[in-house]
Amino acid sequence: MMKPIKVGILGVGTVGGGTYTVLKRNQEEIARRAGRGVVVTMIADRDLDRARSIAEGGVTVTDNAHDVINDADIDIIVELIGGTTVAKDLILAAIAQGKHVVTANKALLANYGTEIFAAAREKGVIVAFEAAVAGGIPIIKALRESLTANRIEWIAGIINGTANFILSEMREKSLPFAPVLEQAQKLGYAEADPTYDIEGVDAAHKITIMSAIAFGIPVQFDKAYIEGITQLTQEDINYAEELGYRIKLLGITRRAEQGIELRVHPALIPARRLIANVEGVMNAVVVKGDAVGATLYYGAGAGSEPTASSVIADLVDVTRMQTADPMHRVPTLSFQPDLLSDTPVLSIEAVETASYLRLQVVDKPGVLAEITRLLADCSISISAVIQKENADEGDLVHIIMLTHKTLEKNINTAIQKIEALPVVTGQVTRIRIEELND
Ligand code: HSE
Repeated sequence: MMKPIKVGILGVGTVGGGTYTVLKRNQEEIARRAGRGVVVTMIADRDLDRARSIAEGGVTVTDNAHDVINDADIDIIVELIGGTTVAKDLILAAIAQGKHVVTANKALLANYGTEIFAAAREKGVIVAFEAAVAGGIPIIKALRESLTANRIEWIAGIINGTANFILSEMREKSLPFAPVLEQAQKLGYAEADPTYDIEGVDAAHKITIMSAIAFGIPVQFDKAYIEGITQLTQEDINYAEELGYRIKLLGITRRAEQGIELRVHPALIPARRLIANVEGVMNAVVVKGDAVGATLYYGAGAGSEPTASSVIADLVDVTRMQTADPMHRVPTLSFQPDLLSDTPVLSIEAVETASYLRLQVVDKPGVLAEITRLLADCSISISAVIQKENADEGDLVHIIMLTHKTLEKNINTAIQKIEALPVVTGQVTRIRIEELND
């Protein structure tokens, strides 16, 4: 067997530690697959004690990532620092040194992927990022390699474990939002900045990357529509359940007539769909291809060894592919880089969805008629209505309506008009519905 390929890890937190452990534990099997050993020879971490506690004899430890990048013996740099500042400089520096890069950095690739992939292409090196999307689920490989026969129609994913954990706990244990978030942070699933989890930003990074691979477009995080879960109430979770739906934070990208949809928001999905039953921190992605139909990928979307599983798969891929002429490697975004498409990403106003509406109204004759007339004026058709008495709220009642598909701008106009009616108190809650069956 050839001499081992040498790996330097930048950042040995949860995922870096897991990568080191799994590489060591499974080294023989990995070498049999890769055709040579895959060995960590250097580790950089700002916290030298943490790095030393992981590294064994023969592994050089440093607090300066550039020591690793500049080491002539290192073949692959694994970037697990995260963020879009230091990590970006380090990845570009590694590429400039002719190193292959494996990263789990979704924020960086969603924002600066175009620049990073171009730099890598120029130097003839590989940038691999299976661990950036849905942790241990091999969704990048599936999209990029296994589904290449298909015209992808849409992808819908539960791709933030923290948000899914919060929604599951709120529903199953009737708990409010705040304590559940705290619990998720303690379990170590949340991002360094947990607003990224609950505001949908992390999911948007991931769906942006999948969208680029599915449709052969550049990564365009700035075009993603993002709405998180902070406004969701237990009431809505319960009403959705009564109507046969479950509320999930979904990342969605879809090929529509005028362009590509790219959005993250809470959505009601039919409770009978497999993906509706993905609970806790687990992730799942449905990919609809024209030939294959809908396929579902399920697994751990975060955590030490699950994410390490993806990092190491990339290390093995790089080991196998590095000697191939760059023209004959799997293209970074599946499509040949000079054949990316300029199909526009649609603004949310141009997206059509069905909606769940909840409003609080005075219970008297003609109220429902007024509301339904307003909806009709905006060309919105209703598919279900329920009325809920609430003992605490006197003569106020909740009306819950489901609409058929309509353009976002129509529903926004209708909501404004409904909120202006004297018989309606407070704001209208609106959550999009995704049937996930077309
Ligand atoms: N914060 C992310 C999650 C971790 O909760 O899913 C993996 O990207």
